[in-house]
Amino acid sequence: MKKWYIYSTKQGTTKKCGEYIKEKEDELILHNIKTGEPKVTKGDSVIVATSFYIGKPNKKISEYIKNNQELIKACNSTLLVCGTVEEDNKDILEKSFQDNLTLFDHVVLGGHAFDLKQLNFMEKQIIKKVANVTENQDHIKYENLDKIMEQISG
Ligand SMILES: Cc1cc2nc3c(=O)[nH]c(=O)nc-3n(C[C@H](O)[C@H](O)[C@H](O)COP(=O)(O)O)c2cc1C
Repeated sequence: MKKWYIYSTKQGTTKKCGEYIKEKEDELILHNIKTGEPKVTKGDSVIVATSFYIGKPNKKISEYIKNNQELIKACNSTLLVCGTVEEDNKDILEKSFQDNLTLFDHVVLGGHAFDLKQLNFMEKQIIKKVANVTENQDHIKYENLDKIMEQISG
């Protein structure tokens, strides 16, 4: 039984979350979806991690979920969402993933971070206007990542 962390990232937040979990769960295999589909088999533990941009999750991660519904159902599965989305506006997840949200045993909010050097001019303008962000920030919810560790360990 393998333990997978399948992710996409732009500024590095989602990758950082995976590295944090791996520090305590050494068997975890970090797999960037950009490199292709991982070789997950039924019964594995799978954390599928995506960030949100302009109201949408990563396209490759959405496609992976859509194309692997039966496999995800047959695994111990967690969807980890990085972004400014909070418990009280979680309905965006239902709109984005629709029925696929129910494939997962757990849905966890990972919080967000901003790394301005990874953003282009327009993106920096957007976060300045929408969230008044003008410098790097880290609001990763490490306490929620710890809960994932409890779910996949053992
Ligand atoms: C231009 C821009 C748009 C964003 N739009 C959203 C959004 O619609 N919803 C959300 O929850 N977070 C949004 N975010 C926050 C990102 O999801 C957050 O920075 C996250 O930590 C990025 O993760 P990543 O580095 O793994 O891609 C946005 C960030 C930027 C820079």
